[in-house]
Amino acid sequence: ETVEWDIEDAGKSGYDHYMLKEINEQPHALRECLRGRPRELDASIEIDELEGLERPERVHFVACGTSYHAALYGARLFREQGIQTNTFLASEYDVDAIPVDEGTLVVGVTQSGETADTLGALRAANRIGAETLSVTNVVGCSAARETDYVMYIRAGPEIGVAATKTFASQQVALAMLSRALTGACSSAFIKALRALPDQVQSILDTSQAATVADEYVDADAYFFIGRGYNAPVALEGALKMKEITYKHAEGFPAGELKHGPLALVTERTPVFSMLTGDSNAEKMLGNVREVESRGAPIVAVTDVPAQVATHADHVLEIPNTHRLFAPILANIQLQLVSYWVANQLGRSIDKPRNLAKSVTVE
Ligand code: G6P
Repeated sequence: ETVEWDIEDAGKSGYDHYMLKEINEQPHALRECLRGRPRELDASIEIDELEGLERPERVHFVACGTSYHAALYGARLFREQGIQTNTFLASEYDVDAIPVDEGTLVVGVTQSGETADTLGALRAANRIGAETLSVTNVVGCSAARETDYVMYIRAGPEIGVAATKTFASQQVALAMLSRALTGACSSAFIKALRALPDQVQSILDTSQAATVADEYVDADAYFFIGRGYNAPVALEGALKMKEITYKHAEGFPAGELKHGPLALVTERTPVFSMLTGDSNAEKMLGNVREVESRGAPIVAVTDVPAQVATHADHVLEIPNTHRLFAPILANIQLQLVSYWVANQLGRSIDKPRNLAKSVTVE
């Protein structure tokens, strides 16, 4: 008698889907991303492969999909270091229309390093003589070969079409890059970076995301709101939800809600709200009240549960961290919610209809 042995299932190490396996691999992926880069001794970050790359005057980020959301997050970190940044969807990067001044570093953020739109943008930047850098996961990919510099995120292979661990690794890599290129770091920043893998693990061990998913699996639509550093995670939360559940989901910087999307908010549209204890907390609570008064269920993703409990129907807690890293932790909860909704709906989670892991056409 022979035992049926499926190479696909073997690769999933007991998980039902690669996506769940990869979500659970995040503590390891982040440890790899961090390995050897933060230096406690002089509170600096060194990225060996970027030796010789100087502080740029300006940065243009080019990326697609989930990588674009990581780039939006990274751009904000650079801006806080006094570097001018612009973030472009790679398919909209037009070097003839957008001046690329001397001193501009063009950074392609691309997990696969093979996305046609991102390669096209990087090639255009090369053509006009700009300095280029790719932030990628795949050693020796096209982006890595074609840019002046390459930084690897070291997340390990990602099979699920929906990017999960590579997004977390991109966020951490870009956070390090923003400090490595500006020389401005602190021991608090490094300490918080180093704590991330264990904090992600604690979320994975205790998350109530499956319960929340059960509660809202029949929702008409899902909204995600956040401000500041959390805004890109609101976009990413919605993208993940639509990719794998095929349901309507939208993410907004919370202030935009009242300029249109609020018309769609009902008691059948849960609003996932990133309520982290940062300088945006007050305004976020204001936005939550706006949707609350329309009867929408509120799911708070928060590191200050006591302060938001009265405003939330459900709380998805994240550990306390440096204000800049809350979005990395919040996103883990959102990944899990999408996964469990899709699982309930019996979707083809690892290979959603119409989507590809790497899109090599423009
Ligand atoms: C495809 C994938 C997305 C990914 C995007 C960019 O659309 O389905 O998950 O974010 O491409 O891919 P890249 O490899 O450039 O990060």
